Amino acid sequence: MANEREKQNAAAAALEFVEDGMTLGLGTGSTAAYFVQMLADEVADGLMIRGVPTSEQTRRLAESHGIPLLPVDQVDRLHLTVDGADEVDSVGNLIKGGGAALLREKIIADASDHMVVIADPSKQVERLGQFPLPVEVTPFGFTITAKKIFDALCASGIDKPKVELRTSNGRDPLITDGGNHIFDCHCRRIPDAEATSARLSSVPGVVEHGLFLGMARTVIIGNEGGAAVFEY
Ligand code: 5RP
Repeated sequence: MANEREKQNAAAAALEFVEDGMTLGLGTGSTAAYFVQMLADEVADGLMIRGVPTSEQTRRLAESHGIPLLPVDQVDRLHLTVDGADEVDSVGNLIKGGGAALLREKIIADASDHMVVIADPSKQVERLGQFPLPVEVTPFGFTITAKKIFDALCASGIDKPKVELRTSNGRDPLITDGGNHIFDCHCRRIPDAEATSARLSSVPGVVEHGLFLGMARTVIIGNEGGAAVFEY
């Protein structure tokens, strides 16, 4: 069970990367929410930044805390994005999407000069795959797409994966900010993340998946007394 102090210390350490004048991607999830709140305090003290939220949830949070936001369509490059993760391996590869925001998170991270990941120690893994891999799909034909996702996972070396539709109330498919559905893929272990990424990306109907490979340049793992910073 994650300790809130660990998340807060990771978020506080990420503030060190923020500079006046930056356009900043604002991540989604409980750790990223701490960062948004701390950033708001800096803005109140005079820091000049403009944020681009990665979800409607984060947009509401940032707005309610008075962080100036830019419409994403007015942005073609960001200086920095700070976001959480569901898993982080020893070379900074990630699984993201536990909060259903993976599509916007990946678009914003990819458009950023620097991605900083903030997490508590429970997110550190030797190899990705214990956390179910989220795959966002277009609603049309999602039963067909599920079968293709299963085939793609098997073809990339995953043994007996389970592909499960995420629901919002135990029955209806969850609808993401982009109007799509999510399959949570129980892999237990992903032996070749690059192959899995490539296979999933080639499935018609897959909008995006939660493997963020080679995107994080900095990973900050909070602890009780501070944070450890890893550069890749
Ligand atoms: C949302 C995400 C989050 O970054 C991830 O789920 C981590 O969240 P938390 O900080 O609450 O553990 O990828 O889509």
